[in-house]
Amino acid sequence: MKLCIVGSGHVGLVTGVCFADLGNRVICVDSDKKKIELLRRGKAPFFEPGLEEMIRKNSSSGRLSFTTSIAEGVRDADVTFISVSTPSKPSGETDLSYVEEVTIEIARSLRRSYHLIVDKSTVPVETGERIYETIHDLNRRGVKFEVASNPEFLREGCAVHDFLEPDRIVIGVASKRAEKILRELYKPIDAPLIVTDIKSSEVIKHASNSFLATKISFINMVSRLCDHVGADVTKVAEGMGMDGRIGKHFLQAGVGFGGSCFPKDLAGFIHIARKNSIDFKILRAVTEVNEEQKDWFIKKVEDALWNLNRKVVCVLGLAFKPDTDDMRSAPSVDIIERLINEGVKVQAYDPQATHEARKVLKTGAVKFAKDAYEAVRGADAILLLTEWNEFKELDFKRVKRLMRKAVIVDGRNLYDPGEMKALGFKYISMGRG
Ligand SMILES: NC(=O)c1ccc[n+]([C@@H]2O[C@H](COP(=O)([O-])OP(=O)(O)OC[C@H]3O[C@@H](n4cnc5c(N)ncnc54)[C@H](O)[C@@H]3O)[C@@H](O)[C@H]2O)c1
Repeated sequence: MKLCIVGSGHVGLVTGVCFADLGNRVICVDSDKKKIELLRRGKAPFFEPGLEEMIRKNSSSGRLSFTTSIAEGVRDADVTFISVSTPSKPSGETDLSYVEEVTIEIARSLRRSYHLIVDKSTVPVETGERIYETIHDLNRRGVKFEVASNPEFLREGCAVHDFLEPDRIVIGVASKRAEKILRELYKPIDAPLIVTDIKSSEVIKHASNSFLATKISFINMVSRLCDHVGADVTKVAEGMGMDGRIGKHFLQAGVGFGGSCFPKDLAGFIHIARKNSIDFKILRAVTEVNEEQKDWFIKKVEDALWNLNRKVVCVLGLAFKPDTDDMRSAPSVDIIERLINEGVKVQAYDPQATHEARKVLKTGAVKFAKDAYEAVRGADAILLLTEWNEFKELDFKRVKRLMRKAVIVDGRNLYDPGEMKALGFKYISMGRG
């Protein structure tokens, strides 16, 4: 099939590259000229394991190409995917201006006898209707077209794997013809395929992310109780997670969720519910708990260090989760900024995200280190904020020698409390007594 993907970011690029790898002819579009130039040179514009190799392989086979022009992308395609960003407005409402912008351009570019436009961006329910109306009004050549919804569930850090081996594929369609095209496209992927109407498909994505965020805030609340009574939240989560009705995923207590999706999708879901006169109270609480969790963590740092002013802390991990360089809504940003306001000196290290972190953190106040050992030198405490694998393998004897005080505040429960104590660290973690 001939595909056009509009928006070549974390979702669009992975979608385009994977569909090309499955044998389709794909043209990826992005308005960011630098990004397209990098891609044409076979470089991934962000860190995602395995992606760059696949870009090179599929570009050299001729199945994958890149352009900044939507018209060029749409011209020969049978199906066009929309995968541009859908950020939050300050009110929480989803900002659909990028979706509208590209929809207008797609409408003006339609030429072939039939075109399927598929929304892959995470959008509030009824956006599909808006996309349809917009194209209908601007489709001057009268090209027959349809709109479908195909939300994406991949996780950054294992995006290629998740795209090619998903738990499920959801398609929201308005006709058998659109269903047939999307079934055909996804045929090589062995996963359950759920076919529904467009609105239900849009709700599935918002509801899924909101539910996962709910699990995180739930276990974070449990961890606070565990902190007080001396119980171990990791054991509690293990005991809960073995119940098939609950499941073990997303029950890791920590400093709260971040990233480009959960915070904004929660806000968007709450907003669209409110617009329909529904107060989604649970989700308001989920957001509140997530914000408080950072206070909870900072309180632990304060307890460990007594006064924060002029203390030196080493932050290990900046990205919102391991295996990505994505800093969007990373808890590290709020935590570091608040510590700096308290007079703390921050030395930080992340295996991949330093470049992105420099753009969002006040760089003058943060000293970025080239490795974990440089970051711990002279520190009064280590604050572990992202559970990268390489932090599991540190030489803690060396770490301890380099530090001013042997204190670890583990915001991700990465280490074993017994082992850390045996090594001579004052070790504080989340909900483990
Ligand atoms: N990142 C994830 O893990 C993830 C997972 C599932 C769903 N989603 C959803 O997918 C959508 C895209 O997210 P993302 O993380 O890929 O965003 P992103 O910011 O990484 O990528 C979006 C891309 O769209 C491009 N773009 C914006 N306006 C454009 C225009 N007018 N023409 C062409 N390109 C344009 C941007 O330059 C950017 O490269 C969002 O709705 C998001 O919620 C994201």
